Amino acid sequence: MHESELQPTADGSLTVHSARFGQSYGSRFGAATQARQVFAEGSGTHRHPAPRVLEVGFGLGQNFRATLAATAGRPLHYLAYEFDPVPAETLFRVASSDPVAAHPGWRALLAGWPGSVTAPELKFDLRPEDVTLATLPHDWASAVYLDGFSPEVNPEVWTPAFLGRLADALQPGGVLVTYSAAGHVRRGLQAAGLEVERRPGPAGKREVLRAVRPVV
Ligand SMILES: C[S@@+](CC[C@H](N)C(=O)[O-])C[C@H]1O[C@@H](n2cnc3c(N)ncnc32)[C@H](O)[C@@H]1O
Repeated sequence: MHESELQPTADGSLTVHSARFGQSYGSRFGAATQARQVFAEGSGTHRHPAPRVLEVGFGLGQNFRATLAATAGRPLHYLAYEFDPVPAETLFRVASSDPVAAHPGWRALLAGWPGSVTAPELKFDLRPEDVTLATLPHDWASAVYLDGFSPEVNPEVWTPAFLGRLADALQPGGVLVTYSAAGHVRRGLQAAGLEVERRPGPAGKREVLRAVRPVV
């Protein structure tokens, strides 16, 4: 069951409150800004020649739209896990203020929702399942966007065991980014063999994490 009442955030982008988790999908300090800074740019996807993104929690597609905008003209393969897809109508409405709403890739996604889509320079695979039970690819992603709800309310996507599986999904040199800077998340990423750094966060967030799989 989804609430579909849109909430404005500080940068003019929209988000939605999840009744199930008691949190908003995107930051009230700026949902689009967080998506761009923490995920699309923080992972280096905006400069990658042929990015392959694995996302934990597709939600409202804010990170996906930021990535589409940031990778224009380059082939993007986006593998998104979401066990509770919102209705297409909610995706349509939440993106109404976003210039990327006119992007052919976004329009194809809406037309095929909830499903996988191939469009010019885009391969989008939606996996409508619990990511913690899924078979993840190995050595595949140039970027992992870890964007579940917070560890307090959605702990299963932040466990050391699951973080280890996400690390294994990265290619050597691949980058995992997340808005959480919790100590146990940082330690879990380190235990998974990643090189972790704390970076300044966007408005409303002092620090976020960036973790790189070493090239050995
Ligand atoms: C903070 S929201 C993600 C926002 C989204 N990345 C965006 O750009 O709009 C968290 C999402 O993770 C999803 N989620 C949480 N746990 C999950 C799980 N175990 N498997 C799949 N999806 C999950 C929720 O349903 C929700 O859509």
